[in-house]
Amino acid sequence: MKPVKVGLLGLGTVGGGTFNVLRRNAEEIARRAGRGIEIVHAAAREYDPTRLPGIEGIQVSDDAFKVVDDPDIDIIVELIGGYSPAKELVLRAIENGKHVVTANKALIALHGNEIFKAAQDKGVMVAFEAAVGGGIPIIKAVREGLAANQIEWLAGIINGTGNFILTEMRDKGREFADVLAEAQALGYAEADPTFDVEGIDAAHKLTILASIAFGVPLQFDKTYTEGISNITRDDVAYAGELGYRIKHLGFSRRTPKGIELRVHPTLIPERRLIANVDGVMNAVLVKGDAVGPTLYYGAGAGSEPTASAVVADIVDVTRVLTADPENRVPHLAFQPDALSDTPI
Ligand code: HSE
Repeated sequence: MKPVKVGLLGLGTVGGGTFNVLRRNAEEIARRAGRGIEIVHAAAREYDPTRLPGIEGIQVSDDAFKVVDDPDIDIIVELIGGYSPAKELVLRAIENGKHVVTANKALIALHGNEIFKAAQDKGVMVAFEAAVGGGIPIIKAVREGLAANQIEWLAGIINGTGNFILTEMRDKGREFADVLAEAQALGYAEADPTFDVEGIDAAHKLTILASIAFGVPLQFDKTYTEGISNITRDDVAYAGELGYRIKHLGFSRRTPKGIELRVHPTLIPERRLIANVDGVMNAVLVKGDAVGPTLYYGAGAGSEPTASAVVADIVDVTRVLTADPENRVPHLAFQPDALSDTPI
């Protein structure tokens, strides 16, 4: 069977990681997907070819719309980030009948309802595992692994940059700005790092998780959002003296009035597991009525951890494309229940 053809938008931290993981583990990935997966066209304005062995064999355009309009491509992988032109590119890819994989939480949180509707109308898949929790397969865990449950609540550390800053301030007494600069150099932070430190990135991710967990539309503007930019080294040290850790948490639960959504710094007793999630690691607790509490842990940002989730989505989409049409998983299996009427 012919390999599935992928167009990759972005060759930065996550795009480069996706390229490298797909090449390095090509054989194993092909076995799992049921056929080969080949990147045939990428879009990037600037990239470092020395970090991407093999990139010279691939067409690279500086105009991402050229990739989206390439008739050979089956799956568009959007790793540019931000709202625009990511939204226009994804909608055009869908219009062109291509399936989409994206790591873009801002895009899904704000425009997911419109994107899913367009995908549904066109009969294509949109997958976004890498949008939440970096390498942790938390979307699949909530949507598939916990499908039997009524989700009662979920809570988690869902911004790696913020957790890295709080950890370094506590363990090494470092300055906020100094650690943030390191997070940027390591490729953890958003292009605009205020998204990390003001809680916006965590709010995007919580919006997506809650939509899947509670079957409600994506409603980013309903999320109470507070970041860590006002936390000082003294705050972190005093919390420690009292037996607590300061963690930036996202929290969501169903209440009689609707779904509660909030992200903010929280004092957590240091004996709790989640209080000991340090550095760039993320952790999400999900409580289901049948299973009880469950905990998911792993790298929340970074090149290859995030690429791990992106490639898993490419494999999922490829499996569905490859399956006998009679046995195909309905494409809605890849979407949150974003079109439900449940009030928030
Ligand atoms: N800036 C994000 C974070 C990247 O630090 O968590 C992963 O979504």
